[in-house]
Amino acid sequence: MDTVISQPAPDKLQVLPHTQYVTPDHLTPETAPASPLDQFKTWFKEAVEGGVVAEPEAMSLSTATPSGIPSARIVLFKQLDSHGFVFYTNYTSRKSRELLSNPNAALVFYWREVHRSVRVLGRVERLTPEENDQYFQSRPLGSQVGAWASKQSKVIGEGDLAARFKKVEERFGVREEGELLEGRIPTPDFWGGWRVVPNEVEFWCGKPSRLHDRIRYLRVNGSSEDTPQWKIERLSP
Ligand SMILES: Cc1cc2nc3c(=O)[nH]c(=O)nc-3n(C[C@H](O)[C@H](O)[C@H](O)COP(=O)(O)O)c2cc1C
Repeated sequence: MDTVISQPAPDKLQVLPHTQYVTPDHLTPETAPASPLDQFKTWFKEAVEGGVVAEPEAMSLSTATPSGIPSARIVLFKQLDSHGFVFYTNYTSRKSRELLSNPNAALVFYWREVHRSVRVLGRVERLTPEENDQYFQSRPLGSQVGAWASKQSKVIGEGDLAARFKKVEERFGVREEGELLEGRIPTPDFWGGWRVVPNEVEFWCGKPSRLHDRIRYLRVNGSSEDTPQWKIERLSP
């Protein structure tokens, strides 16, 4: 159902009516795969291959200062490996500064068109320079220049970014046609990936009357890093 708003008073907005979330899924702890990464792979592939979910790789990333003040933003999920979920960013940004001082993060995917959501909580680790290099070099040239030009999260003046972009193009010899004169743009050491290694993963899917399915995986304390054991439980919606 389409979202409708009413304005009962000049200073008040209200959202109507209530959307119904309904999926044919039936998640149970008994039939769920032993690893949440396998369940994620299944849902992510379905979100991509179903062709109806807009930008399934967009996810919210929450970080917090050491004293627990949270902040959240959208980033793009780029890789899943046997350890966790990878996104790329500037290592001097606000999110990275928070992760450096408090290496805990939360992710939320919301695939509205299929009424599914995935929530991931865990600790983070930086990717290696080799991993960063491999990914950075696969990016379009404009994005490589953009990464060098942006002092992400810093206050800047009008036009500063365009000027810095142009300077970086000159520095690395980018021609007007968007090609390099020679060589390659080096991978900045202030830019790269973070991996969120999950301790907890929840799968949510919509059901009528708000009786949604919620299945939570909790990593068993002391189980191995490479092949963790997971406890799987149903949560009340
Ligand atoms: C759809 C979408 C995708 C984005 N993807 C990324 C991303 O992959 N990496 C990133 O650093 N910022 C990305 N951003 C920008 C962030 O939301 C945010 O503005 C930026 O990272 C600065 O956040 P910070 O100041 O909290 O560090 C994206 C924004 C949107 C709306």
